[in-house]
Amino acid sequence: MSGNSPQLVLLGSGAREHALAIKLRQDGATVHVLPGNAGIPGSVPGISATDFPAIKNFCHEHAVKLIVVGPEAPLAAGVADYFLDTDIRVFGPRRQAATLESSKVWSKDFMRRHGIATARAWSYRSDQFADAHAQAEELNGQVVVKYDGLAAGKGVYVCNSVAEAAHALTELRELHDGWFSFLLEEKLTGPEVSLIGLTDGNRIRMLAPAQDHKQLLANDEGPNTGGMGAYCPVPFLDDNWLATIRRDIIDPTLRGLQAEPFDFIGFLYFGVMLTPDGPKLLEYNVRLGDPEAEVILPALESSLLELIVAALDGNLAQTITRQRPGAFVGLVLASGGYPAAEFPTGFPIHGIGNQGQGTQLYLGGVKPGETDGELLTNGGRVAVLVSHGPDLPTAVQLAYAEAELVYFQDKYVRPDIGQRPTPLLETSAY
Ligand code: AMP
Ligand code: GLY
Repeated sequence: MSGNSPQLVLLGSGAREHALAIKLRQDGATVHVLPGNAGIPGSVPGISATDFPAIKNFCHEHAVKLIVVGPEAPLAAGVADYFLDTDIRVFGPRRQAATLESSKVWSKDFMRRHGIATARAWSYRSDQFADAHAQAEELNGQVVVKYDGLAAGKGVYVCNSVAEAAHALTELRELHDGWFSFLLEEKLTGPEVSLIGLTDGNRIRMLAPAQDHKQLLANDEGPNTGGMGAYCPVPFLDDNWLATIRRDIIDPTLRGLQAEPFDFIGFLYFGVMLTPDGPKLLEYNVRLGDPEAEVILPALESSLLELIVAALDGNLAQTITRQRPGAFVGLVLASGGYPAAEFPTGFPIHGIGNQGQGTQLYLGGVKPGETDGELLTNGGRVAVLVSHGPDLPTAVQLAYAEAELVYFQDKYVRPDIGQRPTPLLETSAY
């Protein structure tokens, strides 16, 4: 059996990679996770996801011919370029294509060039703050300020007044040295959805639509985080909305990718806001979302491995994606104090492995303890607990009941994941 099992390297170290590893193993692969973490079987803690020579050696030693990339950093560092002329294939875009995520200004220009529905925006360099202040005043401060680069979740300011916009611009100027660019965008309103597909640059196979919960506290209050929970599918995203998103965002993106001088192979994530004027693209990510992946992957009935290989072979047209029925809800089990710069960690985690049927615990911010098999908290987002139910309310109930059974000191779980009131969406307005 193991003779037929393809050897695969998965790059990354979070709960998203735990979910990817489990799914790819179910699909028949032998998965080595570099570096992984103490909670993911098959982890290789000595090799970082951006140490390309070490990854290459590992691949040679273990007859690995396929690398699947979880996070953005190895893509932005050029992992797909590094392995280009080797017999090892990388599922993930090359460095230039990864700019769709790493540069907000470049990404907005791409959207404009290819007629993709998005918010109006103005781009500035760091010597043009006066112009940006004037434009923010003209829009009555209803703007979003975006730093043009990877800013670890701290580069976006959603403003409600001229004073807030002025404060955001001042903070941006103080935080960054030297030359940089930034965007000012009109502020849009509406619920957000995460749409993720696998593409070979010509076709795309979409996975289940999901919704993230980015703020720390209930009712979308408090500071922004990397995500406190997710669910899929999204009940209010009906066929009308999906067809319009296809027409105004996804199809023009594929035409755009074909027109650009780079190939895009990998996961492509569309962060979409459903506004009164129709769907608008807020951002691309060039990877699976986290924690969206933790609900989308168990929802996928089809083989992810087959989809990945088909995308690399340019054969996506031959594939279909089948989803499991019902709803999937993922709760982030976070360390108290997250997302502040510092908070206590190192607490023992109890209840791992006690999950009942229909529930899976994906481990992220963990490290080994003193005794064999013991895990300690080691970060903000410690784990994502995912439950499956016949419908969203049932899955939510099961997830919260199961989350009670996993314990560590200072554990925090946002209390309203998957329980936002159904939005009133005006679908006839556009
Ligand atoms: P981004 O990294 O560009 O997706 O921005 C992060 C978050 O800021 C998004 O998930 C939205 O919640 C919010 N945001 C970004 N752009 C806009 C916009 N034009 N209008 C309203 N909210 C926005
Ligand atoms: N959950 C949003 C992201 O992964 O960027």
